[in-house]
Amino acid sequence: MALDYSKKVMQNFMHPKNMGEIKNADGIGKVGNPTCGDIMWVYIKVGKKGKSEIIKDIKFKTFGCTAAIATSSMITQLAKGKTFEKAQKINTKDIAKSLKGLPSIKMHCSNLASDALKKAIEDYQYRK
Ligand code: FES
Repeated sequence: MALDYSKKVMQNFMHPKNMGEIKNADGIGKVGNPTCGDIMWVYIKVGKKGKSEIIKDIKFKTFGCTAAIATSSMITQLAKGKTFEKAQKINTKDIAKSLKGLPSIKMHCSNLASDALKKAIEDYQYRK
């Protein structure tokens, strides 16, 4: 049975934003979902805004389902230019809302995106 994806999900799946790698990234987060086998990498470049550190640039690479790719694309758009504090608060509901909904059995795919972003930030903080 075909899943009922929103138009916004399909746009982000067919034409993902910020897809690729950042060479010399300041932080890299990698997560996998052991159940479905999907894997996602998030790369960040860090900049400054006043005294706060912000996500200056962000890219992703995802081997995964339609929802995994669409949620990766969306989280990069939501996180770009944000402080770490704000970026770390982006959750599955925010991603689903920005995508105009996700089928309930696909909500777990957006966990992958928010976890990968958190790990990329942690990786940066660990390297410092
Ligand atoms: Fe694996 Fe969507 S089915 S992340």
